[in-house]
Parts: sequence; C-alpha cells; structure tokens
Amino acid sequence: NTGALWGGRFASGPSPELQALSRSTHFDWRLTPYDLAGSRAHANALLSAGLLTSDDHASLVSGLDALGERYAAGDLHPDPSDEDVHGALERLLIAEVGQEVGGRLRAGRSRNDQVATLFKMYLRDHAHTVAMLLLDLVSAIADQARGHLDVVMPGRTHLQHAQPVLLSHHLLAHAWALVRDLERLRDWDRRVAADSPYGSGALAGSSLGLDPTAVARELGFDGSTPNSIDGTASRDFVAELAFVAAQIGVDLSRLAEEVILWSTKEFGFVTLHDSWSTGSSIMPQKKNPDIAELARGKAGRLIGNLTGLLATLKALPLAYNRDLQEDKEPVFDSVDTLELLLPAMTGLVATLTFDNARLAALAPQGFSLATDIAEWLVREGVPFRVAHELAGACVRRCEELGCDLPELSDAEYASISPLLTSGVRSVLSVEGSVASRNGRGGTAPDRVREQLAELSDRLAGH
Ligand code: ARG
Repeated sequence: NTGALWGGRFASGPSPELQALSRSTHFDWRLTPYDLAGSRAHANALLSAGLLTSDDHASLVSGLDALGERYAAGDLHPDPSDEDVHGALERLLIAEVGQEVGGRLRAGRSRNDQVATLFKMYLRDHAHTVAMLLLDLVSAIADQARGHLDVVMPGRTHLQHAQPVLLSHHLLAHAWALVRDLERLRDWDRRVAADSPYGSGALAGSSLGLDPTAVARELGFDGSTPNSIDGTASRDFVAELAFVAAQIGVDLSRLAEEVILWSTKEFGFVTLHDSWSTGSSIMPQKKNPDIAELARGKAGRLIGNLTGLLATLKALPLAYNRDLQEDKEPVFDSVDTLELLLPAMTGLVATLTFDNARLAALAPQGFSLATDIAEWLVREGVPFRVAHELAGACVRRCEELGCDLPELSDAEYASISPLLTSGVRSVLSVEGSVASRNGRGGTAPDRVREQLAELSDRLAGH
C-alpha cells in the first residue's frame, strides 16, 4: 500500500510523473479549515447514525481540533506524497488519532462531495470579504461625491464634450455599477447557500443512513442538494462567481481608465496622492497612476479566469471528472486579485484631489450648452427639429467667429432667428444648464443629493 487513498486494487504505486501531474496541494491547501469543519460535521453525522462510538467520535473531534490549531499556527503542511488536501488531512488525522479511529471517518463520503462542499464554503467566505471591500470603495466614491456637490465638469459622450454635469453625478455613476456588483455577490450567495453537496458521496449518495441536512446546517448552508449527481458534478457556482469577479474587474477598469486620463497634463482634472502613485526610475518628474493601470490590466486576467473555467466545464459529461480539479486556481486567483486590488483602488479614490476650477472652466467648452439652447426653444413652443437646427446654426456661427455660445451677441442670436431673443441667456450658463436637468436621475444638484440618499439606502442592506 502506497499510503494513497486508493491503494487496495493496485499492485504498484503511482509513477512520479503521475504524482506530479495529479498533485493539487500547492493550491488546495487553503481549503484546510473548511475540510476540517466538514470532517467535524461528518463525524457528527456518523455518530448520529450509530456508526461511531462516542469515544471514537470524541477522539476524532479532538484530532481535528489539533490539526486546526496546527494549521492556524502555520505548523501543518502537506507532504510531497499527498495528492490533495483531503488525502493529506486524512493522513495527518491518522497520525494524530491512530489508524483504527482515523480510518473510520471516510465512511459515507467521497472527495467528490467533500471538495464541492468545501469549495462552496471557501468561496462564500471570500465573496463576503470581496463584498466588504467593494462596500469600502463605494463609500469612498460616495464621500468624494458628497464633497463635490458644487463642482461642475464637462460631461462626455464619445469622449467629446457633450453637456455639463456635476462631478458628483459622474462619480456616482461608477458607484451604482459597483452597487449592482455587490448585489450580484449577495444573489450568488443566496443560491450557493441553498445546497450543500456533502452526503452525495462519489455521485450516487450514501447507504449509511447519514443526515445530509444536519451536515448542511452545521456547515452554514440552508439545506442539502436534492440531486447527488448535480451536487458533485456542477460548478456553475464557480463560473458565476468568476463572472461577478470579472464584471467587478471591468467596472473597476472603467473607473481606472478615467483616473488615468484625468491625471494627464492634457486633462488636468485630478492630482493623485503621493502615497497612492509611483515614480519613474529615470524620469525624476514622473508621477504615475500605477494603481489604476494595474486595475485596468487585472481586468484582463479576471476575464481570462472566467473564460478558462467555462472552457474546462464545456461538454464535461456527468458526474465528477478529474478535469474539475482545474476549477480552483482560476477563481482562487480572481478572489485573491480583488482582495489585493480593491483596497488599493479605495485608497486611490479617497485621496484624489480634483481641480475644481479647471473642471468648471472646461465645463462650458466645446459648445456643451447647445442642447440647452434647443431645449429652451422647445419650452418657448418651437418644434425640436427646428430648435435643433437653430442651436446648430449658433454653434456654426461661433466657429466662424472663434467664440463660444455665451459670447455671441444678442444681435448675432437675433440674426440667426428672431426666436432667439435675449431670454436665451438664462440657459447660457453651466450652473443654469445643470440646475435645469432636474428630472429623476438628472444632474441637478437637488437630484444628485437625492441620489446620494438613495445610494445610502441601497447600501444599508449590505
Ligand atoms: N482533488 C480533486 C478535486 O479538486 C478531488 C479529488 C477527487 N478525485 C477523484 N479521483 N475522484 O477535484
């Protein structure tokens, strides 16, 4: 016997090449605390089913506790001969409590139902951590928005000046996307919590009269899986979390890209805090937005983790196949990446200093008040098609004269159309423009204040 979990029917041990390929302890060792919790719950189920004496049960539980303490102390390690975390922990448990008692724990369970359950538990904890970090970032964005309610900026479409907006309004647009990500994490958790796979065995369930529901409850699930094949073979919970992680990455990359643009000389919208930016080894003047660039770059990695995982799952026949061992590294990497990235993004955002005067000065440029002229004409009873034409003619006249819309004289306006009376001046200011967009979801200061309150309400549940 080679000491592996399945030596009985083999005359010779695994080749070193097979062992090297098969080994997963370098990435699944992090499941140790969850494996131990699963084993404890399973020992309780065996006790309840009359398959363990209370002495054996007590000895197993104290052995599992001892392993847990050693793990926490950084003093528990897999051996190169261990195939995976489950086999390693069985070997280590037997070393603690002896072959006779330690060998009883595997009854009625398989690594297939174990790993599916532990993986869910691990991901639930880390999805929760990611959600808390996301919440910090949303709060940092909301704080910046609250602090800049009186600042106007050029709103853009196609990256061209479009219409003036409040800086707060623009910042909050990023916050809402992240709030939906937060809600996706919560929805995901609700679905994952429903089904613990423990008790599914290899694929067909158990003949030993164990109670999967009790195990499920002990491990923090609402219930156990209704189908042992699905319980051991499905990994949509992994792909779904990898998607949410990728979407978070994409949302962060859009915020990051703006910080990168805004901190250029040409934009000059923001200055980065020294502690949240980097220098150059050769150019002494440089201050680089590395956090934002890494956020942009890591979005690619998060997308790759999702697509790699989906490719692994595609067309896999039921039930468990060893391919499924490839499910862990991508999503472990995704949560690790977000756990590193989110606090850095939060610090970056919280310490941005905006050049309010420059933002305000640029806001009306590029004829961004032309829509206001058209809408003013509509309020005066002019059909929008005509109003659009006339406002366009104003822009053309400005281009000829090399000036901006507020600088056109009353006479110039009148010569474009008698409809363009001096009343039009009431909308030819950025403040007037922004204040006039006061429908729900608009950029008027009162609406943005309302939006901030709505955001706080949405966050209260998290
Ligand atoms: N380490 C495997 C995984 O992560 C679980 C072991 C299942 N192995 C097996 N031969 N059934 O998927």
